[in-house]
This record gives sequence, C-alpha cells and structure tokens, in this order.
Amino acid sequence: MWIKAVDNKNNKNIYKGALVFSKEFKLGKNVKKLRLEVSALGILTVSFNDYDIPDYFMPGWTNYKKVVNLCEYDLTDYAKENNIIRITVARGWYSGRLGYIAKDRVYGDDTAVYAEIEATYKNGEKEVITSDETWRCDETNVVFADFFDGERVDFNKRKFKNYAVEKKDGEIPFRKYSYEPVREIERIIPEIISESEVSAVYDFGKNFSGVINFKAKGKAGEVITVKYGEALDLSGGVYTENLRSAKATDRIKLGKGLCEFAPKFTFHGFRFCEVIKTPKCEIIDLYGVVLSQNLAQTGMIEADNQLVNALFKNISNGQASNFISIPTDCPQRDERLGWSGDAQIFCDTAMYNSDCRKFYENYIDLLTDDCFSDGRVPVFVPFFAKPRIEATAAAGWSDAVTVIPLKHYCFYGDKSIIKKCLPFAEKWCEYFHSAEKGRFNKRKIFNYGDWLSAGEVTDFSVVNYCYLGMSLKNLSRMFIIVGNEEKAEFYEREYLKIKDKFLKKCVSGETILSDTQSAYALAFSAGFMTAEEIKDGLSDSVLRADCHLTSGFLGLRYLLPALCEAGRSDLAYKILLQTTYPSWGYEIANGATTIWERWNGIEENGSFFNPSMNSFNHYSLGSVGFWLYAYMLGIRVDEDGITIKPCFGSGINNAKGRFVFRGVKIEVEWKNLGDGYEYSVKTDKTLDLKFDFHNKIVKKQQKNANEYTFALE
Ligand code: BGC
Repeated sequence: MWIKAVDNKNNKNIYKGALVFSKEFKLGKNVKKLRLEVSALGILTVSFNDYDIPDYFMPGWTNYKKVVNLCEYDLTDYAKENNIIRITVARGWYSGRLGYIAKDRVYGDDTAVYAEIEATYKNGEKEVITSDETWRCDETNVVFADFFDGERVDFNKRKFKNYAVEKKDGEIPFRKYSYEPVREIERIIPEIISESEVSAVYDFGKNFSGVINFKAKGKAGEVITVKYGEALDLSGGVYTENLRSAKATDRIKLGKGLCEFAPKFTFHGFRFCEVIKTPKCEIIDLYGVVLSQNLAQTGMIEADNQLVNALFKNISNGQASNFISIPTDCPQRDERLGWSGDAQIFCDTAMYNSDCRKFYENYIDLLTDDCFSDGRVPVFVPFFAKPRIEATAAAGWSDAVTVIPLKHYCFYGDKSIIKKCLPFAEKWCEYFHSAEKGRFNKRKIFNYGDWLSAGEVTDFSVVNYCYLGMSLKNLSRMFIIVGNEEKAEFYEREYLKIKDKFLKKCVSGETILSDTQSAYALAFSAGFMTAEEIKDGLSDSVLRADCHLTSGFLGLRYLLPALCEAGRSDLAYKILLQTTYPSWGYEIANGATTIWERWNGIEENGSFFNPSMNSFNHYSLGSVGFWLYAYMLGIRVDEDGITIKPCFGSGINNAKGRFVFRGVKIEVEWKNLGDGYEYSVKTDKTLDLKFDFHNKIVKKQQKNANEYTFALE
C-alpha cells in the first residue's frame, strides 16, 4: 500500500527535505529470488543492506494525477537473514517546483512510498513484505531538496524526528518502469580557475547536467554554499541571471569530522560552480557527476575538420544533458520541460546517437496520456498547465504525435508503437485540419512559428500548412505500416487538398510567402514543391544571408537536407562550416560545449542576450545531427531500412562514422581523392543495404557480403 508520514501539525516543511522509510525484516535460508517493486510520489533512492541502487530520480516523471511508474529490482544477491531496506524520498517532480510556472506542489503536498518485496524460496514458497503502517519514517539530514533550487544537507543535525506512518489514500494506476534509468555516466575532475581563502570557482570544462560530490572538513555548524552556472560573468564570477528563478544553490552545514556531500535529490545544468566557505574549511576531492539517461551509444561521427568534430560533441552533450527522465528543453533554469516541438525536431538525431527505443516509447506514453479528447496535443508533457490553445495546439509542437512514432518505427521497427499512437495522431490531424478551415484561427491553433529564427521570420501560415501537410503524410504512412490501405489513401487525399491550398495561398510562381530559407525547406520537406521548384528560391535566400543560416527550431532540421536534394550541397557545407554569426561555428568560437537555445546567446559584442530566455544547453538547434548522419555520412533510415546515399561538399575531405541499426553496426568512411571520391561501407552482420550514389559510380568493389568500396566521380 502507499504510505506516508503522519503529520499531525500539517506542516508542509517536513516534505521539503528527504524522509527515509525503512523496514527491518528476516528472511529464511535458501532464498532463490528477492524482487523489489517500488514507487514514490516524489523521487526515491533505495538502499538494501549494504547495497545502494545507483539510479537517480526514480520512478521518473509522469503525470502523477493519471499514472505513476513502478520500478522493479532484483535484490537476490544482497539478501541476508536480517535485512533492512531504506527508501529515501524527496519532492522531485511530484511536489517540487516545476516548469516556467515554477510553482511547487503541482501534484500534491505529501510525498509517499510504495514497496513490495517478494522472496521466492528454493522450495517454491513465497513471502511478501509490503509497505504498511509498521514501517518507520525518519527525517534525514537532507533538510531541503528541489530540482530548481538545490539541495541542503545539515551534517550537524542531531535530532531526527520520527513520524508514524499511515496509509495514503487514493489509488494511482501503475505503469511498469521499462526504460533505462538516470545514472552517473561520467566523472569530471574540474580545474580551479580562481581562488581565495573563502571561495573558489571551478571549471568542469563542459556544460552538463549533474551534481558535484566532495568531502569537507571544518568546524561543526559552519556553512558551505555552492552556486552553479553555465558561464562566467565579466568579473569572473559564476553567471546565474539566465537561470531565472531557479536558485541552483546547494548548502552544506558541516558536522564533526569529515562530511561527504553527494546529493541525490537535485541536479543542475552547469559548467562552473563557486564554492563559498569559511577560511579554515577544507574541501577535498571535489568532482562533477554527469547525470543522464543511461542509453547505449549507437552513433559516432568524425571528420578531418575540427568544427564538425566539436559540433558532434556539442550535439551529444546537449542530448545527454537534456535526457533526464524525459527529453527536456534545458537543464538549468526554471523550466526543464518535455517540450514536444523540441522532442520531435531532435528525435532522429537522438536515435542515431543512442539507442532511444525505450526512452521515446516512454515519452510517447506520456504524450498520449495527456492528449485531449478533441485531438489537441500538449506542447509539453507531462502536462500540467491550463489547457489553453497556446499550450495544447501548435504547429510543429503538437505534430510530435505523428513525427516521433513514425521515426521510432523507422529506427526500431516496432509496429505496436504505431498502433498505439494512431488514434491520437488521427485525432490531431483532424483537429489541425479543421483549424485550417477557420484560417488557422488563433483560437484553434497557436503559432510559435519557426521559433527563434535568426533575422528572418517565416509567415505562420507557411509553417502551419507545411506541418499540417507533413502530419497528414505521416499519418498516411502510419496507416500503410499497419496495413490499412483505405485510411492511408484517405489521408493521402486530404494531404493533397492541403498541398493545393498551400500552393494557392502561399506560393506565387516559385516564390513562397515570406521568401525565407525555412519556408523553402519546409515546403520541400512537406512534399509541396519539388527540389527543382525550390532550388532558386532556397539558394537565393542562402546567398542573400552570405551563406549563413537564418532558420529557427522548425526550419533548421530541414534546411541542409533540402539544399542537398536541390543539388546545392555546396551551400549546405558552407552553412555547416561557418564560424561567424549565426552558425554553430560561431557558438563554438564563443566557447560553446553544448548547443545554445538561440543563435545569439552571446552577442557579437560579447554580451549575453537577455537572460529571460537564454539557455546555453538546448538540444533543438542540434537537429543538424540528422543531416550529419544521413547526408554527410550518407546513412539514411526509413520504413524500408537503410539506404546509403552521401552528399559531399568542400571543406571536408575525409569523414567517417558508424551507426548501429537494430543490432547491426554500419561503419562508413569517405575520402576526397581530388579527382573523385572513395566511399567504403562495412557491416558486422549481414544487412540489406540499398545504395544511391547519384549515378556517379566509377567502380564498385565488394570484398565480401558485408564490405564494399566504391570509387565515385
Ligand atoms: C522552451 C522551448 C520551447 C518553447 C516553446 C521555450 O521556453 O525552452 O524549447 O519549445 O519555449 O515556445
């Protein structure tokens, strides 16, 4: 049963720290299996006898009003005759501060725990220990914990209040936790970049999500404060303005002897931290713990160009930093939400980089949990805001419900995901289509547009038509996958109607309304115009910007692919390798170790952009990762598997990489030989590969069933 602390005084503060629920129990000899099922309204850690489960922030974030994850662990190896289990719970997403609204207690006040320990003996008998009123509940020395505001630990605390335990009323349906947990994925020893008797600024060399661990020695009662930030301000201190209301501060009150700080109930997005202490207090062994979803790496890219290598690293760091239970927009400020627009635009990059099968399966569950019966799809999930139009129906955001499942199918081949999503995807398309009839009326559809574009603004109706078209096309493809030809054809016809309308309303000659890079890229990718038709408009718009990009979140994902398809890979490579504003190279030249939220996060005059919305760790503009894998390396994934189809361009003479597709490792490499290209591909198991070298093959050599080299014009 769900249990909670009995709080006679109705004192909400008891839940601001961490409470430990514990139970001592005996087990007989010959335990064959010991299984723990555990969940929390809050976030939990489990220690069983001497073993600490290494997962962070379980049971993960769900819409706790509707569903909560149930985690399962095998504890057989740690079973003894006399056992003790301790489950420590803090607020986390359940009652800590959430989102840009930054309010706490969104789902409830009081944290709670559910546990069932099942012992199976060799003779087949079973014994079950469940959480109930006989469990203990005590305060811990974690006196405050919050994702945004940090963790406060009092090592000098002497009195730990004991609370009686009672049943927590109300049933919340369980869902089995079935994806990789958040874990420590790396440790970083930082460099001290400035120091005095009472403070030190540490540089971890890259922006990441996580915590720091250290030991400290000093006088009992003395306080150490740690502040976190992504950058340094002009005076060399940690820059915190862009964290908005997130305090991102840990506080440690020392006790007697050596105190070990290893927070488990918060995380920060940071590259720098400042430790403020008293002169005599000694800090020992301070290191950074990088936290992320523990996903297997499936992709790698390397080129003879340092900018490309740095960009690939930044994309991967941005992904790792923002994969904390769900795909989030940013890890540092008071937001950290599962924005669906960001998630859909980046999902194929992520699926190349890592095995995201289960991770997105979970996100898809969260998305469908919160879809509205009239078809609207929230712009972030788990959803907890007022269901106004701007939060529940937006082109490019709500379309996640057609994009992510289809991509998931292409990468992982699981039809059940398509089946699960189809009713929601169909409803969304119907809703979106009906909004078109009202001329994309603001009361039916909200326009974020080509969010955070650089300089050029793409007309909202262009974005809306293109996304409506893409979603109808995706829906038709989803119906083909499940074998429903009739519906597939129906939505193909609906798609053609929208294409017609787009051409009538937004195109004159070959010029698209607003004449921006994103407009051409989106119209081509929606299949509204051919490569030939967009070629001039798109190239002109790039040339006008002096071969720089102007796109925001939505257009960018399609920009370089559209240029390559239109036969202008030369321009795609120029944009890729730019080092002046706006470009990825500009970010790198300004010290970026992740992807920035906006192209002008640091302005050309060196100042920070307005801190009200300026994160240095947003993965969305890293969606170029898709192009790097699919076009630069040439490994393309669709419903029919893998096609090898590279696009070359100047500035890079050698590129190589790998991608593990459904358990098969594909390695590719190409070289510019001056008078042509050499392209080689190798797989570690037999895989049906299709090749498309734009009719430029001079010679093909096949070493064996899994290894090819092509000489190309
Ligand atoms: C978030 C984005 C998100 C956007 C929606 C921002 O605050 O950080 O990544 O997609 O809002 O407009």
